[in-house]
Amino acid sequence: MEKAIKRIGVLTSGGDAPGMNAAVRAVVRTAVGQGMQCVGIRRGWNGLVHSDFVPMDSNSVGHILSRGGTILYTARSKEFMTPEGREQALATCKLLGLDAVVAIGGDGTFRGALELSRLGMPVVGIPATIDNDIGCTHYTIGFDTACNTAIECIDKLRDTMQSHERCSVVEVMGRHAGFLALYVGIAVGATAVLVPEREFNFEQDVAERIRQSRLSGNTHFMIVVAEGVGSAVDIGKRIHEELGIDPRVTVLGHIQRGGSPTARDREVATRMGYTAVMALAQGNINTVIGTHDGHLVATPIEEALKQTKHLQMDRYDVLEAMHGIRK
Ligand code: F6P
Repeated sequence: MEKAIKRIGVLTSGGDAPGMNAAVRAVVRTAVGQGMQCVGIRRGWNGLVHSDFVPMDSNSVGHILSRGGTILYTARSKEFMTPEGREQALATCKLLGLDAVVAIGGDGTFRGALELSRLGMPVVGIPATIDNDIGCTHYTIGFDTACNTAIECIDKLRDTMQSHERCSVVEVMGRHAGFLALYVGIAVGATAVLVPEREFNFEQDVAERIRQSRLSGNTHFMIVVAEGVGSAVDIGKRIHEELGIDPRVTVLGHIQRGGSPTARDREVATRMGYTAVMALAQGNINTVIGTHDGHLVATPIEEALKQTKHLQMDRYDVLEAMHGIRK
């Protein structure tokens, strides 16, 4: 028979994402409701390595649902990546009497979770990253808020680009993936969007798009570049050299990771937090919680780490259709 889970640790790791706090709150409150104790592990896996923790109860997660960032702090731990670091982490788990750990983050977080599970510590992962690049889930906490933040910024840029009849080149985050860029590009009506999943030809995918837009009467242009493609500054330089216009380049950067989570992120994070604890209570360990067409599913961590997610290229066709480009 599985050992009953009486005390769990919860941590956030990797790049923060709006909605992480909502997930922490859901984990703590569900755990307390199930008669479990909860310990907040601070600064990601580093917290387990260095015994950096804070006991948590229902009150300690009050008023955090609407807050961006993570009250538990976050880090990318180099020490936890070493066998010695993981042994220290396991020793902390034993010292605190943890029966399981809930790890909230991206694929680096889940690689850490897999290693800890291999040492015999039960874990459950909750996907949270603005990149939405986790294979085992259609959706990751933080993506919707980051899209909305980028859209708000780009709408503002558009105002001034329109007034000055300029071209704007905006770099958005996403690491190696183009989810953020493509969703945002569609939502702001970008002239062109460059994503790492689709090889681009500057003449056809940027220069000609700007020319066509100009011919149809526009005097300002919006080019969205995913950071995984390369530097927006370089794209800006090429636009200047090859089209003779003087674009303004904006790198949105970490602003995309902040802000109060949207309804979608609060709702998904709360359901994922609840589901993670209920999975543990039912003895369903060493999994990552994910969404599949709106439903929550638990995938074994090892399998989850092997799964990849592809950018839906039909979305690219939609973007192009808005500029009269036929498939
Ligand atoms: O994974 C989230 C993310 O924001 C990526 O989009 C970006 O490439 C990276 O983290 C930036 O990391 P850091 O916070 O270390 O600069």
